[in-house]
Amino acid sequence: MKHVLSFTLNGAPVDALVQATDTLLDVLREKIGLTGTKRGCDTGNCGACTVLIDNEPVNACLTIALTVTGKTVTTVEGLVEGSELHPLQKAFHEHGASQCGFCTSGMLMAAKALLDKHPQPSRSAIVEFMSGNLCRCGTYLEVIEAIQAVAGGK
Ligand code: FES
Ligand code: FES
Repeated sequence: MKHVLSFTLNGAPVDALVQATDTLLDVLREKIGLTGTKRGCDTGNCGACTVLIDNEPVNACLTIALTVTGKTVTTVEGLVEGSELHPLQKAFHEHGASQCGFCTSGMLMAAKALLDKHPQPSRSAIVEFMSGNLCRCGTYLEVIEAIQAVAGGK
């Protein structure tokens, strides 16, 4: 049996027909076609699928889609500001914080959640907050530098 899921996605209202067991990741990638949010482990361990729900970072692979009814979801596609990259996207690029890029959208969304709440986090706070986002290419130092650059306004 299908259900109508209504929520706000990257600032616009969206309706999707979903199964009760569909995850938010399934819906974003396979029904809506926003593939910026990545499926890594599909078990809540890697952070590649991180999106914001009402500004809180969550693993979309562990989120039953119907639970976002009436909520606001932001994905990496919603980070750009007009034709401009988000400052975090620019900083990741400038600091080489993305290699294969598979973890990058999740890293960006987690970093946005951190800076929205704590605009000038300490290095240790960045490390702790980002600890749920894994990178097989090992860009951790560059990710920290990129976040610090945005936090410092550089
Ligand atoms: Fe969701 Fe890895 S794909 S945490
Ligand atoms: Fe390749 Fe992070 S850049 S997994």
